[in-house]
Amino acid sequence: MTHQYKIILGIETSCDETAAAILKKEGAQTKILSNIIASSATLQAKYGGIIPEQAAREQLKSIIPVIQEAINESQLTINDLDAIAVTFGPGLIGSLLIGVETAKALSLAWQKPLIPINHLIGHFYANWIDDSPSFPCIGLLVSGGHTDLVLFKNHNEYQHLGGTRDDAAGECFDKCARVLGFSYPGGPAISKLAQNGNPKAIHFPRPMLDSEDLDFSFSGLKTSVLNMVDRLSKERNDLQLTINDEKQVLSLHDKQDIAASLEQAIVDSLVTKTIKALKVYNVNNLIIAGGVAANQKLRSELEKNLKLKISNFKFFSPPPFLCTDNAAMIAAAGFFAKQTLKPLQLQASPNLSLDNIQKANY
Ligand code: KG4
Ligand code: ZN
Repeated sequence: MTHQYKIILGIETSCDETAAAILKKEGAQTKILSNIIASSATLQAKYGGIIPEQAAREQLKSIIPVIQEAINESQLTINDLDAIAVTFGPGLIGSLLIGVETAKALSLAWQKPLIPINHLIGHFYANWIDDSPSFPCIGLLVSGGHTDLVLFKNHNEYQHLGGTRDDAAGECFDKCARVLGFSYPGGPAISKLAQNGNPKAIHFPRPMLDSEDLDFSFSGLKTSVLNMVDRLSKERNDLQLTINDEKQVLSLHDKQDIAASLEQAIVDSLVTKTIKALKVYNVNNLIIAGGVAANQKLRSELEKNLKLKISNFKFFSPPPFLCTDNAAMIAAAGFFAKQTLKPLQLQASPNLSLDNIQKANY
């Protein structure tokens, strides 16, 4: 039996976003009353990636003001809150600790139950905001660190079907964007460039496309893009490409074609295995989640293939601002979670994954 909380404060600090949100349960759906995010992404972009120590310091600066703003914007008082849901893993340990320890302190001080949320499961619950997917459904999670297919039989009843054997889809976008001169996060930059490129200009590999399983692999594709950028740069001017530097010799047109061809290769892999999962498990509901789920090409190709290959399909996709890290999805997951904890029982769990959550005891 799940609990009957009506109003939950969600807290998310697994990476470089400090987020707090307050959601209200209305029937099978949840509604956002406030959703605040402070990101240190601009700072990370300056250094070309996330520096864990620095991300944690920024979390520490932002956590209390962000929670305060979430409460103010909801126009509620602390008394109105029924529970606190917090991401306890996976993620960067320094960042996770800020959210987890703050949530524990608030739970003790305010006498509110504490609900631990796996960040990866939290991403999927963006689909239960203003909507309510039916079970069974297949979930595709595509984020900076994860690429997974999951069969949801019900709330809290799921089976991991497959995942990446090496890099995540988001990581592939980010690393390829970097050699093209774009800072973190690279997905949006590649997707923007791709709009004016030819997706058939270069045939990049699509590893594991025909494999029997529901796994993915993106590191071969990444290497292929890096080699192509290197070779093209040498060809153009016989100059070694350097990042964020005038010596870059690729034209905008080159970059647009590489971006479009790369995006197509990633989307082909994701769409093929997702359709396969729906067919193998005879399921017609699809939910998508994670930062890469904000990608328009992925959304439209999934829709196109569902129409062609899955009868009576239902496709649930959160609006892009709920695909990337946020606390609204964590609060939403809190309404359907089984477990509440005494504050001092909770510990951050940086290596949590989708197939070991049961082993975490909560
Ligand atoms: O879910 P998320 O915000 O953080 C993690 O939990 O990892 O995902 C971040 C990832 C980054 O790799 C970023 O480049 C990618 O999502 N991303 C996109 C888009 N927006 C964000 N990738 C492709 N197209 C986008 N529009
Ligand atoms: Zn995430």
